[in-house]
Amino acid sequence: MNHSVISKFPHLLHGADYNPEQWLRYPDIVQKEDIELMQKAGINCVSLGIFSWAALEPKEGEYDFQWMDETIDRLYYAGIRVNLATPSGAKPLWLSEKYPEVRRVSKNLVRDLSGERHNHCYTSPVYREKVQKLDRMLAQRYAAHPGVILWHISNEYGGECYCPLCQAAFRKWLKKKYGSLENLNHAWWTYFWSHQYTDWEQIHAPVPNGEMSVHGLVLDWKRFVTHQTVNFMKGEIDAVKSVEPDLPVTTNLMGFYDGLDYHKFADALDIVSWDNYPLWHNNDPIGVASFAACSHDLMRSIKRQPFLLMESSPSVMNWTDVSKQKRPGMHLLSSMQAVAHGADSVMYFQWRKSRGSFEKFHGAVVGHDGTADTRVFREVTQVGSYLEKLDPLVLKTEVMPEVAVLYDWENRWAIEESRGPRNCGIHYLETVVKHHRAFWEQGIQVDLPDMDADLSQYRLIVAPMLYLYRGSIAEKLKQFVENGGTLVGTYWSGIVNDTDLCYLGKTPGDGMSDVFGLVIEETDALYDGQKNFMVTSNDFMLQKSYEVTELCDVVHLNGAKALAVYGDDYYKGSPAFTLNHYGKGRAYYIAARLESSFYRSFYSFLADKLKLSRALAIDLPYGVTAHRRTGEQDLVFVENYNDSEASMVLPSEMRDVMTGEPVSKLTLPPFGVRILTE
Ligand code: GLA
Ligand code: ZN
Repeated sequence: MNHSVISKFPHLLHGADYNPEQWLRYPDIVQKEDIELMQKAGINCVSLGIFSWAALEPKEGEYDFQWMDETIDRLYYAGIRVNLATPSGAKPLWLSEKYPEVRRVSKNLVRDLSGERHNHCYTSPVYREKVQKLDRMLAQRYAAHPGVILWHISNEYGGECYCPLCQAAFRKWLKKKYGSLENLNHAWWTYFWSHQYTDWEQIHAPVPNGEMSVHGLVLDWKRFVTHQTVNFMKGEIDAVKSVEPDLPVTTNLMGFYDGLDYHKFADALDIVSWDNYPLWHNNDPIGVASFAACSHDLMRSIKRQPFLLMESSPSVMNWTDVSKQKRPGMHLLSSMQAVAHGADSVMYFQWRKSRGSFEKFHGAVVGHDGTADTRVFREVTQVGSYLEKLDPLVLKTEVMPEVAVLYDWENRWAIEESRGPRNCGIHYLETVVKHHRAFWEQGIQVDLPDMDADLSQYRLIVAPMLYLYRGSIAEKLKQFVENGGTLVGTYWSGIVNDTDLCYLGKTPGDGMSDVFGLVIEETDALYDGQKNFMVTSNDFMLQKSYEVTELCDVVHLNGAKALAVYGDDYYKGSPAFTLNHYGKGRAYYIAARLESSFYRSFYSFLADKLKLSRALAIDLPYGVTAHRRTGEQDLVFVENYNDSEASMVLPSEMRDVMTGEPVSKLTLPPFGVRILTE
């Protein structure tokens, strides 16, 4: 038994986006070379049909499925499965010309012309009808095919539409949410500048030459965009599932993309997948690795299940400022990083480099030379051989973090759209990643749930900059601590409720001031480059003083005790880091933004104190990390992101999964990775 939800093919997937519709005039390529090369590279699955609408329906109501019939059969007989896409990511010109309403309207209220992609109106009844009709036809024709194992619904949903249909749908959504304009006016505090709404028709999406200062409006618009996108996606899912309910669905997400709240996609999807394009080998290589790790963890946390890496580049991206090649080893390392964090696949954009247009210089498994005789092809083949070896093992393991670092899109939107205390950069996302990194460096797996999640299973919850409280988050955190959990909160937390109205009374609001045993009295902000410091005599912290930047809460204690105090300015000597015992648990409060070494020593202290499991019970060298997938047989991935060798002595003898050799002292080459088991 394994955990895969892809019942027709419960294996690790090694695959790529495949676009034979671009190559129909090159029969040798699609009928022969592609298949041979795929087999050679160990490809067992391709994503097909993502941008094929015009090839499938060249004219309205005229269909051509022959090329797709042949492709799916040919792949299947070669042992290659298909992740079949619905084609809504790009519109054929006959459609966008005949029905202008399917084209998106931008913020300036100008409708797009035909062309490009990912730019349909997600409300348009015409677009929904046309795409769902084709989705159903695809399902009727292919869902029962033994080679079709999964639906790839659309492609990278994203962006916003400001057309009249979307504005009307927004008003309807608001009516349902607030019931009356009185409620809405209060929730949005529209009394400010005399902007009370007296008619629903006066409500318009926030735009720069209209209303942007009513923060409740801005926040609700972003929520609506997620709602409407999920609703559009559900329409597509219902269409394919109405034919064959058992074929699982995914859609490819984009990590920390800020336009959509991906946690809200969880219920509609059978499995989460995502597209990962880190800027490897830039001037902060370890930072890039830690950010990619954090993104994988976020994607896994959406359903708290293993996910798919749907796209990654085997070499370069062409949309970056600089298209830097992955150094030898990096392709295997970055691929295994995904698996270490819970991916059940390594897939690429793209199988074959297109001959013309926008992506002709984007990385691909097969280049314009059309051969297997390239470094990229060999490194892809190596990943294929790793996945083949790992296949019987990985699918029997899970990633089971004991630590949660809360990340919440609604909080991000609210904190970034608000004015003050630091409009030059409030750095919410960077802060989340910074806290995550301290665990990553120690080889401790972390989830990134949002405020709606059940948090009771964790032993440690870190809630950085939780400015906005929504749902029952305060109650959940309170109970978590009462029952013996350890909570870490930070500055700029518990300031507003779910429509961005400030809490009246003690902050952090909604009772959390009692949990932390303190009250925030002021928040001071520092200019870029300015510093304060925090001084401490606690022996669990390695430095006597830590640098403080950006934001400093000035608090007075109400039961908590100070673990460290500020070293400078008018709040010198006042608490900068505190601990409160609450119920059976503990609540720490970090009142200011600190340098990374603080988080490293604090979370290492907490990991020891709470006996959190580390992938390897050793101090890992800088730039090296380790991650464990737990199961009957645990797998430990040891990853070196340095461009130099790294050595370590393992806590006990382990075995290399690929070679079977015993290992007790491990030396990893530059960008090296080893997979070990006990
Ligand atoms: C996205 C898209 C792909 C392709 C890649 C290029 O992830 O989904 O179609 O454009 O970017 O990096
Ligand atoms: Zn629209």
